[in-house]
Amino acid sequence: MMNNIIETHDLCCQFNRIKSVDKINIQIPEGAIYGFLGPNGAGKTTTLKMLLGLLNPSSGSIKIFGEKMPTNRISILREIGSLIESPSFYGHLSGYKNLKIFASIYGLPNSAIEDVLNIVELTPHANRPVKHYSFGMKQRLGIAIALIHKPKLLILDEPTNGLDPAGIQQIRDLIKRLPTLYNTTVLISSHLLSEVEQIATHVGIIHGGKMLFQDAFDVLRKQQTSYLIIDLEDPSKAYQSMQKTGWDITVNHTAISIRLDTPGQKTKIFECLKNFNIINVKEKHRSLEDIFLDWTGVKKEV
Ligand SMILES: Nc1ncnc2c1ncn2[C@@H]1O[C@H](COP(=O)(O)OP(=O)(O)OP(=O)(O)O)[C@@H](O)[C@H]1O
Ligand SMILES: [Mg+2]
Repeated sequence: MMNNIIETHDLCCQFNRIKSVDKINIQIPEGAIYGFLGPNGAGKTTTLKMLLGLLNPSSGSIKIFGEKMPTNRISILREIGSLIESPSFYGHLSGYKNLKIFASIYGLPNSAIEDVLNIVELTPHANRPVKHYSFGMKQRLGIAIALIHKPKLLILDEPTNGLDPAGIQQIRDLIKRLPTLYNTTVLISSHLLSEVEQIATHVGIIHGGKMLFQDAFDVLRKQQTSYLIIDLEDPSKAYQSMQKTGWDITVNHTAISIRLDTPGQKTKIFECLKNFNIINVKEKHRSLEDIFLDWTGVKKEV
């Protein structure tokens, strides 16, 4: 069985009697890219801070690499790289020199700096002062710092916020390479389903401090469905005639709606309805975005 790199049990964080994180059970398998997805204020940053020992849980427990957090804080943190909120640097120093500070802390050779500059594609800018870096370059330098000691686990809080599409793509490609490059498990938070969809192998959806869904991303993908909505003169009669089919059907006073589960089902549906007066037929797709918006209670503009 695959080991879980992170496991939390009923993790809670309460600010002034309000639970910002409410009994969260996170399970992140080794080698996963875990997308921690939720709208603004869902509790993502609060959870990540607890995992990193920057905030104390009000109750519940955390295990990282099978060790208890915060009991074994020092040994756990040695194997983690993280970027929470905006990174801070010495602006007057070059990217290289900023990385040198961290390399010295970890006792790493200069080759570690060169490697990581290469990975985040900052080698051509290594000797420029960081205060002259663009926003995207600073973000990549922040990730370089988080990666310099080849951590077993990388925790990134919304690393693509504020980046342009090319910058987002660059970070996405970089994150995707990490599990094979360094054997790193990645936990990345985001409020964008589309972003998580493009990189994550696993997903946890948080809303109002509660975990709504957690599994392999493919399991979420399978929840996408299409429906056939058929307006009929007598929908209840049509509904009755189809009850033995085993299809997922709902009915109201103007239409029946049938979930499309199998190829060729549409033909069978019209076969069943050949003696009914059909007024209109439309197909509705429930996309991942629809599911996410349903769950997180944010209404989509039509
Ligand atoms: N130090 C604090 N004191 C009081 N309330 C807090 C504190 N930190 C966070 N909260 C509250 O906890 C809730 C979750 O906040 P959190 O920052 O974890 O959300 P988030 O998912 O990271 O949102 P965003 O996408 O906006 O970054 C919010 O309602 C926030 O107001
Ligand atoms: Mg946040």
